Amino acid sequence: MTIYSKIIGTGSYLPPRRVTNDELVVQLAAKGVETSDEWIVTRSGIKARHFADADVVASDLGAEAAKRALEMAKLDANDIDLILLATTTPDHCGGFPSTACRVQAKLGMTKTCAAFDVQAVCSGFVYAMSMADAFIRAGVHKNVLVVASEIYSRVVDFNDRSTCVLFGDGAGAVVLSASNEPGILATKMHADGHQNEILHMDATLNCGVLEGSGFMYMDGQAVFKVAVTVLGQVGHEVLEMASMNASEVDWLVPHQANVRIMQSAAKRLKIPEERVVVTVDQTGNTSASTIPIALDTAMRDGRIKSGQNILMAAIGGGLTWGAVLARM
Ligand code: ACO
Repeated sequence: MTIYSKIIGTGSYLPPRRVTNDELVVQLAAKGVETSDEWIVTRSGIKARHFADADVVASDLGAEAAKRALEMAKLDANDIDLILLATTTPDHCGGFPSTACRVQAKLGMTKTCAAFDVQAVCSGFVYAMSMADAFIRAGVHKNVLVVASEIYSRVVDFNDRSTCVLFGDGAGAVVLSASNEPGILATKMHADGHQNEILHMDATLNCGVLEGSGFMYMDGQAVFKVAVTVLGQVGHEVLEMASMNASEVDWLVPHQANVRIMQSAAKRLKIPEERVVVTVDQTGNTSASTIPIALDTAMRDGRIKSGQNILMAAIGGGLTWGAVLARM
C-alpha cells in the first residue's frame, strides 16, 4: 500500500509585543533613522510586526507554535518521531545544541526522537516539509513535527532603514503524518549559491570571537527581481509534477516578504489575488516562519478547508527557493 504524508495539525505563535509602523517610525527617528508608514506600506504592504523580548529565544516561540499544532492534530508530543526545525536565528548562533533539540525538551517529551535544524533561510519551512514528506513516504518516520521559528529583530540593523522596517519575529508549525490518502502532492527544492551576495549574514565564530557582520544584508531590488521569477517557476514545477493546473489551487500561501512580490507570483501562476493568503501586513517578514504562520491563520479563520489544494512557495538567502503542493 502506498504511504502518503498529510498535514493533520497547524499552529503558530507571535510574541505579544506588537509594533505598528507609526511606533517604529518614532523609535527609529530617535536614532536618526528616517522612514514613514507611507513608504513601508507602499513598498512592502507591511503595517505591523511583532518583536520578541530580550530573554526569549527561537525555541520558546517554536515550542508554543508546536504545542498548538499538536493540539490540532490531537497528538501527544511523545507521538512525534522526528522534529525538523527551520531557522536562520537559532538559540545558539554558530553553537549547539540545535534549536530542534531545544524545542523537543520544551515540549516535555519523555521519549527520544530524531531532531535537527534545517538552514535554508526563508525557504527553510518548504525545505523541511519536503524532507518530512520524503521520510514519511519512505516509511522511516510516521509523525513529523515541522517547526519554523525566527527572531529577526536580533539580526537586522536598526540603523539600516532598507531592512529593519521589513522583518518581524514569530513561529509556525505543522504536524505531518503517514496517511493512506494523498496529502503532500509534490515538493521541489532549489538553490543557487552563486547568488549569495544579494542576501547574506556573514558572521563567523573564530576561537571564541565573532568575526564579520552579525547583521543581515539584503540588496532588496536584486532579490525582488529573482523572487518574482522563481516563485512563479517553482509553482508551475510542482503543479506539473502533480499533473494539476493552477485553476485547481484553492489557496496560494506564498512566502510573506512583500505584497508586491506575492501579487506578481500569483499573476504569473494565474491564481486570482482573492485566493492568496496574506499575513505580511500584520507580521512583517518572519523568514522561514512566514508560510506556516499564514497557513495556520487561514486554517483557524476557516478559509482553508479539508480537501482543498494549497500551493506554498518560498525564496530566501542562499539563494534558495522551493514549493510544496498539499491537499488538506
Ligand atoms: N524608508 C524610507 N525610504 C527608504 C527606506 C525606508 N525604510 N528604505 C529605503 N528607502 C529609500 C532608498 O534609500 C531609496 O532612496 P533613493 O531612491 O533616494 O536612493 C528609495 O527608498 C527606494 O529604495 P529601493 O530599495 O529601490 O525600494 P524598493 O521599491 O526596491 O523596495 C524592498 C525595497 C521593499 C526591500 C523591495 O526591494 C523588496 O521587497 N525586495 C525583496 C525582499 C524579499 O523578497 N526578501 C525575501 C527573502 S528575505 C530572506 O531570505 C532573509
